[in-house]
Amino acid sequence: MSKVITIAQQKGGSGKTTIAANLATVFSIKHNLSTVILDTDPQGSLGKWYLMRKDKLKDKNTIEFKTASLWGAQYEAKSLKQKSDIVIIDTPPKIDADGRPAIEIADLVVIPISPSQVDFWATESIIELAKREKKEILILINRANAKSKLIHEAIKFVDRMKVKKAKTILGNRQIFVSSMGLGLTVVEKQRTGKGCLEMLALAKEIKSFLNI
Ligand SMILES: Nc1ncnc2c1ncn2[C@@H]1O[C@H](COP(=O)(O)OP(=O)(O)O)[C@@H](O)[C@H]1O
Ligand SMILES: [Mg+2]
Repeated sequence: MSKVITIAQQKGGSGKTTIAANLATVFSIKHNLSTVILDTDPQGSLGKWYLMRKDKLKDKNTIEFKTASLWGAQYEAKSLKQKSDIVIIDTPPKIDADGRPAIEIADLVVIPISPSQVDFWATESIIELAKREKKEILILINRANAKSKLIHEAIKFVDRMKVKKAKTILGNRQIFVSSMGLGLTVVEKQRTGKGCLEMLALAKEIKSFLNI
């Protein structure tokens, strides 16, 4: 029953870490699923977020956090699956061949892209890697400015690559930045704000995609 979601994208700054933390929180506190984040990025920014979170929420924190090397991700994720409903793997940029174990173990590969041509170019190789492993892929448009024509370009790009895209689009919103800086996530800072509603919709969409 338990599922592994790997968040991958060659390009740094596309929102992998932000989305990993936000999704994990929604699954845990809104859907009551036991959720663990597995951080394979040696940069360790999620670890810093998690320490801050533990310090702030104490025993009210419901998410678990582990680290692994990219190569060790598969082994670690298999063992975490035994006792968790959801394992979310955050990956570093430039994952290439080293990233295969984290892709292989995934039930779903979420690939965030910003609506920018540079991101589209950077995304092709990770899509190819996930396709070679015959994985379910969901492209997630992140940091979108509602009025930008580039959203349409992003949608065209996804269609051209013949992959699925999430119906939910995450806007470019300061709340994603500020909440992480506090060791929290958007749904813990907003009840009805746009960022919160987007994250709730995304988690729901992913849940139904994974049949959970
Ligand atoms: N939807 C969003 N709106 C505004 N800022 C965002 C959004 N998603 C991510 N960011 C910001 O963009 C930067 C890069 O995001 P991050 O999650 O660290 O990307 P990655 O892990 O892919 O390198 C961070 O400063 C983060 O706060
Ligand atoms: Mg990151």
